[in-house]
Amino acid sequence: MGCLIGLDIGSSGARAIAIDLGGKVVAAATEGYPMATPRPGWTEQEPEDWWIASQNVLHRVVSGSDQPPLALGLTGQMHGAVFLDENDHVIRPALLWNDQRTERQCEDITAKVGRERLVQIAGNPALTGFQAPKILWLRDEEPAAYARLRRVLLPKDYVRLMLTGDRATDVSDASGTLLVDLRRRRWSEEILEVLEIPRDWLPAVHEGPDVTGVVTPSAAAATGLPAGLKVVAGGGDNAAAAVGNGVVRPGIVSSSVGTSGVVFAHSDQPVIDPLGRLHSFCHAVPGAYHVMGVTLSAGASLGWWREVASQDRDYGALAALAAEAPPGCSGLLFLPYLSGERTPILDPAARGAFVGLNMTHTLAHLTRAVMEGVVHSLKQCLDLIAGLPLPITEIRATGGGARNALWLQLQSDIFGMPVYRNVVDEGPAFGAALLAGVACGAYPSVAEATSLVRLAAEVIQPDPGRTRLYREYHEVFADLYGSTSGAMHRLAALGITRG
Ligand code: XUL
Repeated sequence: MGCLIGLDIGSSGARAIAIDLGGKVVAAATEGYPMATPRPGWTEQEPEDWWIASQNVLHRVVSGSDQPPLALGLTGQMHGAVFLDENDHVIRPALLWNDQRTERQCEDITAKVGRERLVQIAGNPALTGFQAPKILWLRDEEPAAYARLRRVLLPKDYVRLMLTGDRATDVSDASGTLLVDLRRRRWSEEILEVLEIPRDWLPAVHEGPDVTGVVTPSAAAATGLPAGLKVVAGGGDNAAAAVGNGVVRPGIVSSSVGTSGVVFAHSDQPVIDPLGRLHSFCHAVPGAYHVMGVTLSAGASLGWWREVASQDRDYGALAALAAEAPPGCSGLLFLPYLSGERTPILDPAARGAFVGLNMTHTLAHLTRAVMEGVVHSLKQCLDLIAGLPLPITEIRATGGGARNALWLQLQSDIFGMPVYRNVVDEGPAFGAALLAGVACGAYPSVAEATSLVRLAAEVIQPDPGRTRLYREYHEVFADLYGSTSGAMHRLAALGITRG
């Protein structure tokens, strides 16, 4: 026997779990690290913080499990850029997935490659959060740092480098850079050439369950893992979470409320939204794909609201307060565009808002409005997926939002569909551990590994009356961006130039 380890380099912390071959979690550990916002719209983290937290959580799960590790799978926040010099030293803090500073570089990429050609090759238009424009931002804004640049890695792959000394990634995460040929599942020579990004700056691309290297003796000493342990490619956090939730065949769609909110659908072939509002990426399942819609500030909106309005309450108490307000919050809507927005509006300069405030509104109404606004935004993602040639037979809630009754009921009511949950919801780390299990032969395939995933008996059913009411609110929600975007843009510009 033995155990499988999954390590997730998340946005707010690193999480490691050890599972037995039956999928039971035998040890788990989490350690947080800060996210810096040096300017509005900028987000950064220190790769060294990821590595320190990884060492600590790995130590804790290795010592907490009585079985020897068989393999380690990696996953993490997508799209970030870790810039390294010729000695693999970090040049500056990493730019993250929700960083919006690269608008000009996105225009540059679109002009050079051509919008249509970009979507044809990479499956997506240039969006500020992706990795490719971050590389061009360094070229344009920090030329001295750019002159030292020799390698660019995604967040989890920096930790892989520390663990194994190898520069490698997996294709689900790689496809979130905008530099991958989606159909060929490898770096696009054409895009790299047009953007003048040397191929040897980028890591080798693998399928999710491939072994990319082994733990070095020094990493073994730092983490407690055995030297020589297989380290497996894994997946971007959304693809790995999908594996962990059994979203590995057409029809099953997951709805996740974490820092970001994601509606994710598996597909056997690349399916592309021609307007680029949904992302089309490779899956961590070999040869498969996925589409997803992303709400940049989902749990992050409630986190922000907790900071500004109700510091003494934890999330459970905050949701209990929200539950005191009626559905629709007596005519109040919240737009969750605190970090700009991806799906469906693709606008880094979008800004958040409460709309419809009146004298009867209380903290409870505003709190509920924040949660409802996030779910209205997820509903827009779901509706776009429903418009593609992809079946939607079942919605599975996941992320922190799947552990709270109000988040779950809001999803069911606003989507107007039953919502299912898994018995075990250990997120991306669980999927990464399953991929590690495939790599070391514990399971014959990803599909068979996910037969361990069990649905909870309780299904959250939509209330028809609330669903009707929310449909009317949703129409207003969907109109609001169009009618306020001019003001949002002017305010965003004023906020930068006038402070
Ligand atoms: C997906 C995305 C986020 C991050 C952070 O496109 O940007 O979900 O992966 O979790």
